[in-house]
Amino acid sequence: MQGLPLSFTGVKKAFQIKGQALPVLDGLDLNCPAGSFTALLGPSGCGKSTLLRLALGLELADAGTILAGNENPAAMRKTGAVGVAFQDAALLPWRNVEDNILLPFEVLGRQPDSPDHIGELIRLVGLEGFEKARPAELSGGMRQRVAIARSLATRPRLLLMDEPFGALDLILRRQMNLELQRIWSAARPTTLLITHGVDEAVYLADRVIVLSNRPAGILANIAIPFERPRAPALFRDPEFHKLCDEISAWLEPQAEASSR
Ligand SMILES: Nc1ncnc2c1ncn2[C@@H]1O[C@H](COP(=O)(O)OP(=O)(O)OP(=O)(O)O)[C@@H](O)[C@H]1O
Ligand SMILES: [Mg+2]
Repeated sequence: MQGLPLSFTGVKKAFQIKGQALPVLDGLDLNCPAGSFTALLGPSGCGKSTLLRLALGLELADAGTILAGNENPAAMRKTGAVGVAFQDAALLPWRNVEDNILLPFEVLGRQPDSPDHIGELIRLVGLEGFEKARPAELSGGMRQRVAIARSLATRPRLLLMDEPFGALDLILRRQMNLELQRIWSAARPTTLLITHGVDEAVYLADRVIVLSNRPAGILANIAIPFERPRAPALFRDPEFHKLCDEISAWLEPQAEASSR
């Protein structure tokens, strides 16, 4: 199964806040080819989550076109080809871990591929023993791991992840980075990862896109030259650090401007 392409062409989106228009995207063009891995960095509040919600058809653009696998995003989402992990885990509080991961199958009226499929996902994110726990009984990082497992449940061809590792400690974050690289390399879903971690972006992606302050435009589009598979030792490589520094240099003036 091949990844699905995702494209934004001339996309505009503004929110109305107290009668005032707040432009968030003002003519954004972004093309994610089938099977590519794009990491998206940008200052807080610039419009990254909005872009992801548009790609899911949860928000509608005011102008421009968004295509997921050459289809309307909402229609594509309903086929089960799209996996999503939101910034805030978004688990159903009354359901246990297993049942939260099963949710996409229920929505689609489908069964998991194998009797142990949910068990495999739970092991993948290191939550064995917590199958029957409710979200309130988990830590923030554990909840995020449930959301990651759920995003992968239907073996998506388009994977949209909004800061999925934000609440994890460094060791766990690195482990999840390795797992995500493994899953992506095996199945090649087109992946869009929103993150505040420059090193994580460089480690995982084919290219890193830096967005400007709102309304978000593309400031930089940086191809990542490191060969795959990428070993954990890459995190200690001087070339890797050089590239991370270059990318951070694009972000810092934005962060200063947004805090003024
Ligand atoms: N439903 C909404 N109604 C009104 N304003 C909204 C809505 N959703 C987002 N916004 C506004 O749009 C802007 C972009 O928000 P968005 O959540 O896309 O930012 P972000 O880049 O994901 O930030 P962060 O890195 O902090 O998660 C913000 O100013 C936010 O207040
Ligand atoms: Mg966000």
